Order: sequence, then structure tokens, then C-alpha cells
Amino acid sequence: MADMTDSAFCRTVRCVTQDTSSVIVFREMVSAEAVVRGNEKTLNMTQIHPNERPIVQQLFGSDPDTMAEAARLIEAEHHPEGFDVNMGCPVYKIVHNFNGAALMKEPGLAIAIIKKMKAAITVPLSIKIRAGWSNPTECLDFAHVIEEAGADLITIHGRTKVQGYAGSSDWDRIAQVKQAVSIPVLANGDIHTAPLTLDALDQTGCDGVLIARGALGNPWIFNQIGDLLASRTPAAITLRERIETIKRHLAFHVEQYGPSGVVTFRKHLSWYFRGIEGAKRFKERLHTTTTPGEVEDILDEMFADGLRNNALSSRDALHPMATQRLFMAK
Ligand SMILES: Cc1cc2nc3c(=O)[nH]c(=O)nc-3n(C[C@H](O)[C@H](O)[C@H](O)COP(=O)(O)O)c2cc1C
Repeated sequence: MADMTDSAFCRTVRCVTQDTSSVIVFREMVSAEAVVRGNEKTLNMTQIHPNERPIVQQLFGSDPDTMAEAARLIEAEHHPEGFDVNMGCPVYKIVHNFNGAALMKEPGLAIAIIKKMKAAITVPLSIKIRAGWSNPTECLDFAHVIEEAGADLITIHGRTKVQGYAGSSDWDRIAQVKQAVSIPVLANGDIHTAPLTLDALDQTGCDGVLIARGALGNPWIFNQIGDLLASRTPAAITLRERIETIKRHLAFHVEQYGPSGVVTFRKHLSWYFRGIEGAKRFKERLHTTTTPGEVEDILDEMFADGLRNNALSSRDALHPMATQRLFMAK
């Protein structure tokens, strides 16, 4: 996720994830053109900390040679375990240049990008698509096109570009894509909790899921999924764990962006305290802090307050189906 799944976030997920073997982190997209031009900010975004691996770097762009060259440069410098091409982003500033979801309307260009990238890299290449541009059945033909061009994996977000984030992700459509191709398929869209992950796997028959917003403020989601898959009840996240994780994430964020990174960290604070009773008055103060020390002081205060008043308890992040699922699994 752009501006979210940067190195600091991916390191945080890795730090809290117990069974790392089944979790692959996808980095936020970067512009292939900016990589090839040597744009310093973009190049910094492609650096990988050893603790983030295995990791997939996502690229966006529409020129096959530029996409291939950007992937070749990144692989030579940072050796990600895979690359992903964004053919699903619906945002105007991306699609107006035939990037993102616009590539679903240009299968010839999509094929050329995949072929050139495959020839330029030695690691797997995955493609992220939507159900279609405006017609939700477009993904069925497009998935074949991608597979035949040589992609190793497809992730499908079950909404069209025109839908943006409206409506819901059509998991039945994703199931049809899974049936239509022989390469692995990941289901995406509205899989925000561990129980929903099990539902999505059942309903789509996919090889895995891609979780986006569900991991914001909840880097523990991958443990929760692992627990449910193993018929264990996921452990609740204690206030201490939450606060320690936020502090660690903040330290990674400041390491990446410098002390002024406190300002861009605010969006993560909002996610971490979403649905946490009693956090509101602290949240307002957290959003005016300008130094890492101030944030840490308020977090310590929150912890003390939480212990004193038995407040700041988190709402159960799990879907009501969780218990039922566990019984069924047993
Ligand atoms: C803030 C934000 C940034 C995103 N950036 C990207 C991106 O860089 N690349 C991408 O493929 N999808 C991106 N997405 C889309 C998500 O990967 C995902 O397809 C979508 O949010 C639906 O999944 P979810 O319901 O699990 O969030 C972004 C979504 C959000 C909310």
C-alpha cells in the first residue's frame, strides 16, 4: 500500500509474526520510470532491510523496456525475492498514463511488460489486477493473457476500476479466475480479519490471500490467521504488546525518515488505536506531537492509564464467525 507498506512497516510485521514461512510481504509500489531516472527518493524506497525478507517489490509503469530496466536495477542492487506489477490501481494520476488498472484495457502492452520483465529478472513475477475496468468479467480473459505471457502468480482484487472501493470485493469472481488459470492465485479485497481469511480461502479456492487494510494497525493479523488455520484460538493483543509494537514501529520509521517522520507516522497511530476504547483523548494529543520522545511519553501515559483504569481495551478484532469456525474445524 502506497505510503503505508514501507520498509519500517514491513519490518514491524516481520518482528511480530511468529510463523514467517507462510507470510510474504509486498512493498508499496514505486514508479519504474523514477527508478530508471535515478530519482533519489524512489531509490531509497527500494532499499530492503534484511529482516523484511522474503519480500516482493511492486512496480508501476507502462513502458515495457523501462519496467524491465527498473526491475533489473533493483534486483542487482537489493535482491528482492520477487517483483509484482501493479495492474490494478484505480487512481487517476496512475491510470491516465496507462499505468495501474489501465493496463487491463491494453493486453498487448501488459504482455510486453511481462515478457520483458521476465527476461530481465531471475526471481518470480506476480501481477496484481482488478476484476476489470468497468466490466467485472474482464479478469477472466485477462488472467489467461497474463498466464500465457509468463506471469508466475496473479493477485486479484474483486472490484472493478470503476468501482474504486465502493461495493464489495466479488469473491465468486475471484473463484472463477482461480478455476480459469493454472498458476497460483491470491484473493484480495475485504479480507480484513483472520476469520474472513478462512472464509475467502473456502469461497475462492485460492492458494492464498493478500491482506491490505486489515494489516494496518494490526500487524498481528498473520499470527491470528495462522492460529485459526491450526484450529487455535488467537491470543488477544495486550495493551503492553500494542504499545511496545507501536514504539518499535516508530523507531523503524524514524530510522527511515529521520525525526520529522513523527508527522508521517500519525496515520499509523490512527490505525493502531482504531476501535480501542478510551484512546480518543490520547489520540488528539498524539496527533499534535512533533518529536519521537513526545509520542513515547504519551504512549507510556496511555499504558499507565490503561493499567490504572483497566481501560484502553481493544475490541475483539475477530469476526463473530470465529468461534463457530473453530468448532467446525475441530
Ligand atoms: C492507502 C492504500 C494504498 C494502496 N496502495 C497500493 C499499492 O501501492 N499497490 C497495490 O497494488 N495496491 C494498493 N492498494 C490497494 C490494496 O493493495 C488492496 O488491493 C485494496 O485495499 C483491497 O484490499 P483490502 O480490502 O485488503 O484493503 C492500496 C490501498 C490503500 C487503502
